[in-house]
Amino acid sequence: MLKIKNLSYGKDKKILKNINLEIPKNEIFAIIGPNGAGKSTLSSIIMGLIKDNVDGEIIFENKLINNLEIFERARLGMTMAPQSVAEFEGITVSEYLDLSKKYAINNWFSDKEEVLKLVGLNPKKYLNRFVDNTLSGGERKRIELASILFFGPKFVILDEIDSGIDFTSIEDIGKILHILKDKDATILMITHNEKLLDFATKAALLCNGEIIKTGSPKEIKDFFEKCKVCELEDKIKEVNNRE
Ligand SMILES: Nc1ncnc2c1ncn2[C@@H]1O[C@H](COP(=O)(O)OP(=O)(O)OP(=O)(O)O)[C@@H](O)[C@H]1O
Ligand SMILES: [Mg+2]
Repeated sequence: MLKIKNLSYGKDKKILKNINLEIPKNEIFAIIGPNGAGKSTLSSIIMGLIKDNVDGEIIFENKLINNLEIFERARLGMTMAPQSVAEFEGITVSEYLDLSKKYAINNWFSDKEEVLKLVGLNPKKYLNRFVDNTLSGGERKRIELASILFFGPKFVILDEIDSGIDFTSIEDIGKILHILKDKDATILMITHNEKLLDFATKAALLCNGEIIKTGSPKEIKDFFEKCKVCELEDKIKEVNNRE
């Protein structure tokens, strides 16, 4: 479904270095990595928010999409829940969901109340609220998930989808991931939370702009827990700085 070939990003300093990834249809592909690894940058490049200083190929359903604008990628069925979700002054949750529906790729759901319940929000309380900074971060993230369910994407990037959502609700996230998978979507789940790897079907570790390892979620979880690569690099830098 999505192939990334020899992707590098950055002008002087390379933030991403020679990334190669293949995400087959209907996979829940997790990319895990520490803060600053380049995960959100990679999401933004795949979605078309960053286009300059990008080398390599992004291929979606056998089509090279490097030059496509965000809305053109959305029309192909791609969408993203960004790490920091945007606020929309003057638009209610109900209108926001209508917008998603207007541009929907698949009509998975038609009932706003049903979708809000699925993401753990009481429709009566939220349908007429504004999608602005009066909503908490977690509420905003849940509304973003509702809007994705209404959009019915072929491919969705979820960047730190659990950030802001209470820890005890991690099962809610698992539930949404399984709805997306059951509806035949392909998911790229960006996270630094090892617990979310339990929901993945495949995983990769991104560190310092490079894919260090790809494998089963368990392999990557075990490797990530024991990984000392960054620590070693920090030590080398420390020694170099001293000399
Ligand atoms: N426009 C920019 N100019 C300079 N540096 C940048 C720019 N955008 C990102 N970076 C740097 O690139 C690196 C990767 O950032 P990115 O946001 O992709 O990390 P991340 O893996 O998503 O981290 P987190 O887990 O904290 O969300 C960071 O060191 C960041 O400071
Ligand atoms: Mg990030």
